[in-house]
Amino acid sequence: MTTRAVVKGVGHYLPERVVPNSWFEDKIDTSDEWIRSRSGIERRHFAADDETTSDLATQAGNAALASAGLTADDVDALIVATSTADLTFPSAATMVQHRLGMTRGFAFDIQAVCAGFVFALAQANALVLSGQAKRVMVIGAETFSRIIDFKDRATSVLFGDGAGALILEADEGDGTNADRGILATDLNSDGAYRDILYVDGGVSTQSTGHLRMQGKEVFRHAVEKLAETAHRSLEQLGLTGDDIDWIVPHQANLRIITSTAKKLGVDMDRVVVTVQDHGNTSAASIPLALSVGVASGQISEGDLVVTEAIGGGLAWGSVVLRW
Ligand code: UT7
Repeated sequence: MTTRAVVKGVGHYLPERVVPNSWFEDKIDTSDEWIRSRSGIERRHFAADDETTSDLATQAGNAALASAGLTADDVDALIVATSTADLTFPSAATMVQHRLGMTRGFAFDIQAVCAGFVFALAQANALVLSGQAKRVMVIGAETFSRIIDFKDRATSVLFGDGAGALILEADEGDGTNADRGILATDLNSDGAYRDILYVDGGVSTQSTGHLRMQGKEVFRHAVEKLAETAHRSLEQLGLTGDDIDWIVPHQANLRIITSTAKKLGVDMDRVVVTVQDHGNTSAASIPLALSVGVASGQISEGDLVVTEAIGGGLAWGSVVLRW
């Protein structure tokens, strides 16, 4: 028998306000046509002025609890992946813990920018496999609208706000690839690439700052590194692209998603794509896509799912799980 961290519930939340590409047209020199053709994005959600990351995360967490048929105190550990926490401290996770009504266990944030959810899933898996937690809630939640420079056309049109949540539970498997749950993880980072994707401010530099990106450079790394990390996770299991039922990628750019799927030999009808509706929601994009993929009937129990993401750091990685 092998312990596995198996998905028990999933949910998401998107702020009410939907912002179409046309909203940007009279603010900066851009067009709906350029945004769609270069990124695949058609619209995104922006949080209301009084809505924070922990608000979005709490809504997503409650949706995941409802889908699992669990209450907050059934959860032993809560991880929130975010780069846009409400406050410098306490962590978004402890705020969400309280708002969910979770009175026991422990909660903490993980910051690996757009790869945050993949990193958080790997840590949740480690907590379950080491016996430190039986049930872990993993939330990806962001309000990137707060760090966008709305005068910068190269970045402002790409990002959105939202949250998604998964609940993982310890279960016994046979130790084969047929087991449900997380089967393999691969995490990487290289701080040498700090300057191609960063926020030019922070607590220690005494400003909030704005997101800055050399899009073409990040694009080049994404196309190369996402396929590599997915291959490495699959290799650990002796699997190939042919075995994948669904790729659920980080949703940054449709052209990156398409090119990675091609490198893995997976047709686009086996890829969950939400970038057109959500834009790039950083650490929230994968759990949002998982939740939408389940709600739409694409992903079902027993499917082999590969998630992969890259973001600021650079930090990148992948997780293979059987739903
Ligand atoms: O989530 C973290 C990971 N992030 C990513 O994966 C993002 C990776 N990068 C990308 O998705 C793409 O590089 C972008 C969508 C950001 C840009 O697409 P691109 O095909 O690499 O375009 P580009 O940056 O090379 O720009 C092409 C042209 C430039 O004009 P010139 O120099 O050719 O005259 C830009 O100034 O498009 C111009 N441009 C725009 N035009 C209209 C840049 N932004 C805009 C805009 N509207 N919003």
